[in-house]
Amino acid sequence: MKFTILFVIALCLSIIYSVRVSPSSDNMASASFSLLSDPFLQLPTSHSVRVVWFTEFLDDRSYVKYGSQLEKETDATTTELSRVREDQNSLVNQEYIQPTVRDIWRHEAIITGLTPNQRVPYQVVSVKDKEVISSKQFTLASNPTPDKPLKILLTSDHQLMPMTTANLQKVVETVGRVDAVFFAGDLVNIPDRASEWFDDSRGGAFFPGLQGRANYQLNGTTYKGGEIIQYAPLFTALGNHEVMGRFSTTSSLKDQFSDSIPRSVAKQLYPQEDLKNNSFNTDTYEEIFTLPESQPGGEKYYAVTFGDIRLVVLYVTNMWRSPSNEPNVKGRYQESIRYLDSPENWGYGQHIFEPISRDSLQYRWLKAELANDAFKEAKYKIVMFHHPPHTLGGNIVPPYTDPQAVIQHDQNGRIQSVKYEYPIEQDYIIRDLIPLLETAGVQLVYYGHSHLWNRFTSESRMQFLESSNVGNSYGAHLGDKKRPVPPNNLNYAEVGNPNGLEPIIPNIAPLQDEKGNDLSYIASNDITVFSILDTEKGTVSSYRFDTRQTASEVIKFDEFKIIAPDSHSG
Ligand SMILES: [Fe+2]
Repeated sequence: MKFTILFVIALCLSIIYSVRVSPSSDNMASASFSLLSDPFLQLPTSHSVRVVWFTEFLDDRSYVKYGSQLEKETDATTTELSRVREDQNSLVNQEYIQPTVRDIWRHEAIITGLTPNQRVPYQVVSVKDKEVISSKQFTLASNPTPDKPLKILLTSDHQLMPMTTANLQKVVETVGRVDAVFFAGDLVNIPDRASEWFDDSRGGAFFPGLQGRANYQLNGTTYKGGEIIQYAPLFTALGNHEVMGRFSTTSSLKDQFSDSIPRSVAKQLYPQEDLKNNSFNTDTYEEIFTLPESQPGGEKYYAVTFGDIRLVVLYVTNMWRSPSNEPNVKGRYQESIRYLDSPENWGYGQHIFEPISRDSLQYRWLKAELANDAFKEAKYKIVMFHHPPHTLGGNIVPPYTDPQAVIQHDQNGRIQSVKYEYPIEQDYIIRDLIPLLETAGVQLVYYGHSHLWNRFTSESRMQFLESSNVGNSYGAHLGDKKRPVPPNNLNYAEVGNPNGLEPIIPNIAPLQDEKGNDLSYIASNDITVFSILDTEKGTVSSYRFDTRQTASEVIKFDEFKIIAPDSHSG
């Protein structure tokens, strides 16, 4: 309780002592209001769907008009986001000198009485001081019936990266309107920075990109993104960039993002009342979205039926820390020598935010979920999470397991060094999760995190796809391009996929190296990639677009079928 009160006081102080310098603040009184985002669709059920939008003013009333003549109205419920702020590093049209609370209200209306497969026009309205502020008209729909052919966009790792808005624009230009978006995490960079969601001044924030309201310059072209989530429900997984670290009123938002420690450590250092502010939290993500929920995991992990797809979304992501072994680095393999005497300042390596090991609550929930009829009877069985089980990318090292501390003391008992090891045989994704998914007949495992495109197939024909070369790439590790790992340690693979499967060369139009050899991946900061699941054909098709040539065509370069593991027909 004491810490909750302290948190509230800290938030108030940060408002009182913050300095906002707005070039247009003198005109604010006469400025008319506008919506901070377009509406987007969430949580469709068989006869309903939710419409969500945001404003920077506390409305007098907000509602959705819908129906063929927009003749019906449903009032929205309004809440204020509790943790979104800006700071000195925010790219917005105001200057901030320290973390400063930003007032943003979220409006959500539940539209009921819908008929599956019938789209209905809608428009959102917020009223403030007798001024009526409306969005454009879009269409909404409830959950489609199982026989309805669907196109689903598989995307991840937007993070306001340079090619993201071009990518989303090309999605709409190439396949038209999709029916849903499956997003495998890392939506923004720092989840509590409001402008990354709404109005980063570079023009490529999260919502503008997915709503066709972006304004991003790349190679001489202005990209608007695509009007996607006004029409299609968004299902997301938590990535490491949705997790905010320890709360502070003074340190930068980036430092707070990086300052997470495991809950188990926080329990030893801080009173029970407010562990969240002293470890890590996903509050902003959970406040922005209305996702399906599971009994133990809430929105953090869940399962949902959409058309003939059963989608299982897991919370499988860990803290990212630098691979550097420079003495002052709080890294994945070591603590900084500056803080050896103060464990409250340690980083605790790449700690896992939510366990997925075989004895964990999430694993037990998953096992029960995979055994129920909704999963077993679904035509398509898809599992989505952020961390890669198989990849050529950098982030598969170190193995996905709890960091094991090796602490050396001198003869007086003072700590000399803290190192972390990650035994590969204890990788929870490979040891526990993947065998469970294989046994259950999952057809597609979809993930991101390394920022490249590559895919794999297991012996039982379970498909693995990483389609995260959306906004940028962190490269593929083959040949001379080695991961930065501790030397002579079999736990850490310098190149290749450490978990065994070989990447599959795209079967339509692979890229080639300088010698003309087909490449099994796309890892490019010039070529952006998106993937579309087509439930009518049972295929996942991947497309690439070269952002260096505005007039260049979008090229379908790979297509594979999702085949049930017990079927060997393809
Ligand atoms: Fe990530």
